[in-house]
Amino acid sequence: MRVLITGARGQLGQSLRERVPEDWEVIFTDSKTLDITNSTTLDAMIQGFQPEVIVNTAAYTNVDQAEHEPKQAFAVNAHGVANLAQAAQKVGSRLIHISTDYVFRGNTNQPYTALDAPNPSNVYGKSKLAGELLALGLCEHTTIVRTSWVFSEHGRNFVPAVINKLLDNQTVEIYENNIGTPTYAGALADYIIELVETQNPAKIVHYCSDVILDRVELAQMIATQLSAHTHKQYDIKVTAPVTLANAEHTVRPDYSALRSSQTHPDQAQAVSVLQQHIQTIINSLLNK
Ligand SMILES: NC(=O)c1ccc[n+]([C@@H]2O[C@H](COP(=O)([O-])OP(=O)(O)OC[C@H]3O[C@@H](n4cnc5c(N)ncnc54)[C@H](OP(=O)(O)O)[C@@H]3O)[C@@H](O)[C@H]2O)c1
Repeated sequence: MRVLITGARGQLGQSLRERVPEDWEVIFTDSKTLDITNSTTLDAMIQGFQPEVIVNTAAYTNVDQAEHEPKQAFAVNAHGVANLAQAAQKVGSRLIHISTDYVFRGNTNQPYTALDAPNPSNVYGKSKLAGELLALGLCEHTTIVRTSWVFSEHGRNFVPAVINKLLDNQTVEIYENNIGTPTYAGALADYIIELVETQNPAKIVHYCSDVILDRVELAQMIATQLSAHTHKQYDIKVTAPVTLANAEHTVRPDYSALRSSQTHPDQAQAVSVLQQHIQTIINSLLNK
């Protein structure tokens, strides 16, 4: 299997790098080796390598900053994806493109399925939706994988950020009313690897954990596990509850839980899987 993977320095890219099967012929690219906004370099690389599958994890992911620089967000998340989709179509490659829960508005209380209509509220979500539509329109064999609240041992993300703050005895400030389905990048990477090897997958799929919770509950879960692991009590101190209404931040969907397209374990099993994933991050941080 010849596979080109973009965004190799991102959290999902690094998780894929650790897991791809040894018998795959893979090129991992990052923004230095392949800027997806540069169609000339991109075409040359794809023509040369002739991948069977392209996995696009590259994205402009700074949700707050995107409000101030929409051009840059659209350049990567929409035009860059269009470049990839066109190049994939030219060489007959499949495209697996990663997208986000933020394509949904969040004014609901039921997890979004892959059949629900997107309606993003912020620039990041709008740029990612544009990328989805361009990918589907320009490359015949495209699969969009929407995921949510990705966490991992790589880079800056919610789970290690909370663990590090707790270990430093810092206050953890969390948005209230922000509900989602946290997803371990390693599990998402395993799923994408399966998808690469699947013939004729669906056009749009969702992959996330089956546990729906708000950020305070997730932080509390992390604190409980860290306490058990270290035999020291850690608590989440939500000193000044920040609601989305008064936060000086980007409008984020209040409710962006996804319904995974996978089979669903019972709740106890789903919680146990999420706890194992959090434990992986605790182990990785404490064993550094
Ligand atoms: N993180 C989340 O909570 C979350 C939630 C839902 C969906 N997603 C989606 O999941 C995917 C992976 O996210 P992630 O968390 O792994 O993101 P990430 O850690 O921010 O990594 C994204 C990578 O994209 C690369 N990139 C940016 N602009 C580029 C360009 N012009 N050309 C080539 N590469 C470029 C960056 O490369 P350099 O490091 O080389 O600059 C970065 O390493 C993205 O599609 C994201 O939208 C993420």
